[in-house]
Amino acid sequence: MVKLIGPKKIRIAVFISGTGSNLKNIIKFSLKKISPIEVNLIISNNIKAKGLRFAKFYNIKKKVYNYNQKKISEKRILKDLKSNDIKLICLAGFMKILSKDFIRKFKGQILNIHPSLLPKYKGLNTHDRVIQNKEKYSGCTVHLVNSKLDSGKIILQKKVKLSKKETPLSLQKKILKHEHILYPRAISKILANL
Ligand code: GRF
Repeated sequence: MVKLIGPKKIRIAVFISGTGSNLKNIIKFSLKKISPIEVNLIISNNIKAKGLRFAKFYNIKKKVYNYNQKKISEKRILKDLKSNDIKLICLAGFMKILSKDFIRKFKGQILNIHPSLLPKYKGLNTHDRVIQNKEKYSGCTVHLVNSKLDSGKIILQKKVKLSKKETPLSLQKKILKHEHILYPRAISKILANL
């Protein structure tokens, strides 16, 4: 019997700073047969990031860099990415801004997820600002990372309607659920075009 071997999966790294629910979801997606990716590396700037526990649980290599000296940390991260043959980086709640130099080296190969309908509400505290401005809709966006904050090419977006009693917390929870659907889709979309 001839055993059919599927196409090789793309090796990706996920960068996190906190809970890592998007990380967990990307890992789960990667384990599906139809998935084009495998998660080979988890990078964090925060040793206390809850999401780091998924490295142990799913047996994935993890590296933590304190980012006190950005240049040195990024140099080491680039080395890790190279030695692990990483072809795509997914930022998932990574709270550090990558240098222009770093981004240039991975041009077109870094994705980020942001909890708003970009270009609206770039930066932090998006949900508070959305509620204060009495917006009817918000959402989430997966975009390519360029040297300007939350400004790279949009890959996919999901619009979400606010309820009348929406609070920043309820909105965050609502949008996060959609992020978990959107990110794997965006990864598949970008890889289809690489
Ligand atoms: C998400 O809301 C994401 O859009 C933002 O940071 C949050 C990370 O959540 N960039 P988690 O750590 O993936 O749970």
